[in-house]
Amino acid sequence: MAIAYNKRTCDCGTLRASDIGKEVILAGWVNNYRDHGHNLVFIDLRDRGGITQCRFNVDTDPEATQIARTLRKEDVIAVRGEVISRGENVNPKLPTGEIEVSIKEVNVLNKSATPPFEVADHVEASEDLRLKYRFLDLRRGPMQKGIITRHKTLQAFREFYYSEGFLDIETPILTKSTPEGARDYLVPSRVWPGNFYALPQSPQLFKQLLMISGFDRYMQIARCFRDEDLRADRQPEFTQVDLEMAFVDVENVLDVVERSLAHVWKKVIDVDVPVPFRRMKYDEAMRDYGTDKPDLRYGMKLIDISDVARKTEFKVFQEALAAGGVVKAICLKGGAAMTRKETDGLTAEIQGIGAGGLPLCKVAEEGGKVVLQTGIAKFFTGETVGELVQKMDAAPGDILFFAAGSFANVCKHLNWLRITLAERRKLIPPGKWEFLWIVDMPAFEWDEETGKWVFLHHPFTMPHDEDLPILESNPGAVRAKCYDIVLNGVELGSGSIRIHSLDTQYRIFRMLGISDEEARQKFTHLLTALQYGAPPHGGLALGLDRISMLLAGLSTIREVIAFPKTQKAFDPLTECPSEVDQKQLDELGIDLNPTIKAIKAKKKEK
Ligand code: AMO
Repeated sequence: MAIAYNKRTCDCGTLRASDIGKEVILAGWVNNYRDHGHNLVFIDLRDRGGITQCRFNVDTDPEATQIARTLRKEDVIAVRGEVISRGENVNPKLPTGEIEVSIKEVNVLNKSATPPFEVADHVEASEDLRLKYRFLDLRRGPMQKGIITRHKTLQAFREFYYSEGFLDIETPILTKSTPEGARDYLVPSRVWPGNFYALPQSPQLFKQLLMISGFDRYMQIARCFRDEDLRADRQPEFTQVDLEMAFVDVENVLDVVERSLAHVWKKVIDVDVPVPFRRMKYDEAMRDYGTDKPDLRYGMKLIDISDVARKTEFKVFQEALAAGGVVKAICLKGGAAMTRKETDGLTAEIQGIGAGGLPLCKVAEEGGKVVLQTGIAKFFTGETVGELVQKMDAAPGDILFFAAGSFANVCKHLNWLRITLAERRKLIPPGKWEFLWIVDMPAFEWDEETGKWVFLHHPFTMPHDEDLPILESNPGAVRAKCYDIVLNGVELGSGSIRIHSLDTQYRIFRMLGISDEEARQKFTHLLTALQYGAPPHGGLALGLDRISMLLAGLSTIREVIAFPKTQKAFDPLTECPSEVDQKQLDELGIDLNPTIKAIKAKKKEK
């Protein structure tokens, strides 16, 4: 009689020494097989619980052993046998390593073709191949860990927000676009030819409408879609832990969000995260770290040395200062040991992101005196040496790197350098969680390209009450009630207190160059709703993918998404996006433009 595989007694990660003597039924995939010559065969059986070693002995169970000899990796089997001790052959690397199962019976449930790559913790296969065979890739230990961590994260967030009285409410996927700074994914309508739905970049306006409806605490695990340039922490389709609250100010939102994160860290990885989190003003973050998402696990602050630079005759410094720019530097402790090859390499790389070069000098000691050497050392003479060393808090053995130019460029280049040095020189201590709120952001940013003010967060964000009078006269000085939560240099989420007054919302739109009429067309639903008793409200959205990635100790969100897209927004598994039938296009009233048609025809010819 075949083994009742639907009556598994446990999974493959459960059995311990205390189970010795029990009869068990296991089912799973052949992870490995080892034929020990005449009488013994070992199979490592794997399921999502873990791995159990199965032992087949030709002397006691010839039939089962004969079948075992035909098995290959990834075959699916069920086994019945007795848990026995491994005696002296304990495998301390496996949680089940003290035992093995002496197999009496084996049932082959399915054979597997030879996999295109090994289902093992470390694979050599390219990411494209792994994505094409994602169902196999997901069998690998680290992938299972990532997906399980994501599940636990999701569960812990829900648990927390439900316990705080948040209602879980779904919002539409076929909707009208909300401006969140990216391009929309559009869906053509068959019923309304020539009209399009947009997939939501976030549920922003719907959650605001829910506040106006009186559901004063909303949360949703929301799928969002953005057609933007992809990076390690960006996917075209991603998930937010989205929330909104009525009758709140900044403090209330920060409080609930940091407690939710502390709850998740405790539940998922058993780490105690102290609250409240540290707060830093946007200006301070830009000044000291050159980024609005500083990684506080290590030092190397950006120091403004414009005063000292002004006294030197170094042309690069002089030109930058004359153009209204700044000169800043960072100090790498012990970095003087860097070779010329290393610093030349860094120079080439920083030039690759737009810097003119990488001025540097080393700090040394000569005859009991601190001196500067190599690079641009010769431009610092007399008292400027001491001033520079003091400003940089430098000591013999350190190296100083400089950047000169506009504030924005100096920030960009030194931020890159700071992160690169920390990563390459292994300056980041493991197991450190540096949560940080970035607050008091400017409301608007001047966009050189369009010659317009653009919003830093989104146009529904409330300016600081005391800045409302200068909204039109001095937009650059207006601060927004906006906040970002940052962890170890990664932006986990952002949010704001929203505008609940119709007048202020129109003023903001006008500031952004959106006329009242255009606003009424684009945001009819919001502007109508704001007339009917909108309560003060605010909220935030956390990136679930990024949070799961950090909790699982991974460096790309693709590893915590079961079926992600490539950096080119392509899915090698389903091979999409893909062409559709002419009939489908006709139904939608869509005619492809002649250039695309020609390209497609050429492809067909090939
Ligand atoms: P924002 O656009 O800042 O705010 O998004 C919030 C968080 O979502 C995550 N995120 C992404 N994750 C993966 N791939 C992407 N392409 C991607 N884009 C964003 C980030 C980010 O911090 N409606 C507002 C929130 C609010 O004001 O309440 C919003 O969507 O972790």
